[in-house]
Amino acid sequence: MTVNERPVADANEPKDFLLDPYRDWASGERIPVHLDFGHDLLALETGRWDRYDARGCFAFTHGAGDFMSNYVIEVPAGKKTRPVKHLYEAICYVLAGVGSTTVWLPDGEQRSFEWGPRALFAIPLNCQYQIFNNSGVEPARISCTNDAPITINLYHDLDFVFDNPSTFPDRCGLSKHFKGEGDHRTYTASLAKGIRNVWETNFVHDLTSFKLYELDARGKGSSNISFILANGTMHAHCSQIPSGRYKKAHRHAAGTHVHAVDGEGYSLLWYEGDCEFKEFPWRHGFMCTPPFWMFHQHFNTCDKPARYLACSLGSRRYPFVALRRKSSEGGGSISVQQGGRQIEYEDQDARVHRKWLEAIRTSGVESQMGDIFDEAAILAMSPASFTGVIQTPQSIGPAT
Ligand SMILES: [Fe+2]
Repeated sequence: MTVNERPVADANEPKDFLLDPYRDWASGERIPVHLDFGHDLLALETGRWDRYDARGCFAFTHGAGDFMSNYVIEVPAGKKTRPVKHLYEAICYVLAGVGSTTVWLPDGEQRSFEWGPRALFAIPLNCQYQIFNNSGVEPARISCTNDAPITINLYHDLDFVFDNPSTFPDRCGLSKHFKGEGDHRTYTASLAKGIRNVWETNFVHDLTSFKLYELDARGKGSSNISFILANGTMHAHCSQIPSGRYKKAHRHAAGTHVHAVDGEGYSLLWYEGDCEFKEFPWRHGFMCTPPFWMFHQHFNTCDKPARYLACSLGSRRYPFVALRRKSSEGGGSISVQQGGRQIEYEDQDARVHRKWLEAIRTSGVESQMGDIFDEAAILAMSPASFTGVIQTPQSIGPAT
């Protein structure tokens, strides 16, 4: 669905109430605005975008929440964007094309780095940057997840956001951070009583080959790395699901923009009390944002590991939101029956595994989860038993 719509107020009524400066700014950019549960970002229609002297569109999602948003920048073959700066954070994931980005630091120095598909980089806060398409043939397309909504709505002054002379040297990162190098850090997630791995950098060459670390608590064989990018308040992590497996369901705050990176699969989403799952299929280019407190679960259906990238507000260094702090402390890997956000395999509705077994049968993949589930019994269940409210274990404890 392509929209640029909100209820139209009476033209004679003073425009002093119910304002949304971010949405007003987005409308004023005069590029296509897409709103849906999720998107295939590679397929979205773009339009001329004067701000970047390039092309682009907004990729709004129903689960984006109040603080986060996403737009797509498309740089035509052989072209470059206009230098731009802004007071909101931006995490860029390269969907297609090859090119480079130049960043001007507060001390006048420049940093440039080259990227290709599935690279990840952050724009240091309020630094001017310019994006170059190094191909003379193919357009370059970049997904830009950002916190422009909270920034623009907080100040509601576009000059302050887009033409602000303030500098933030501690947001720039080290020179090596623009070369794809970084610093591996760990911290203790106190609630989960486990170690979490963090990579601090500004630029990741290729998310498909980046080293991940075991995170079995989210499902056997799962692996993960969290990123601190440009010392920001926005978070990103990359997770992998082995072939023949899927992750445990969980839920959290709104605004996590989940990008499929490698492999194929789908996500199921539901609220407590729902009788039907919301299904979102994915492969590279697909992005969705699980709405606030909606359970969601990611499934690999292909014959190789599946990876995804999640971008949200609240980094491991600066959780910012109480719900994010609890996730960073490990609450995302603890059962809802113990005050966490996760549904353990043994507590999930039988139709979850049945649906996945049918999906991997179609793709010719063997389940590696027979040690957890009685798969013969699940396959023998009659369709009539897969109706009614989705079984969800009782949650204890407050959300935060
Ligand atoms: Fe999630």
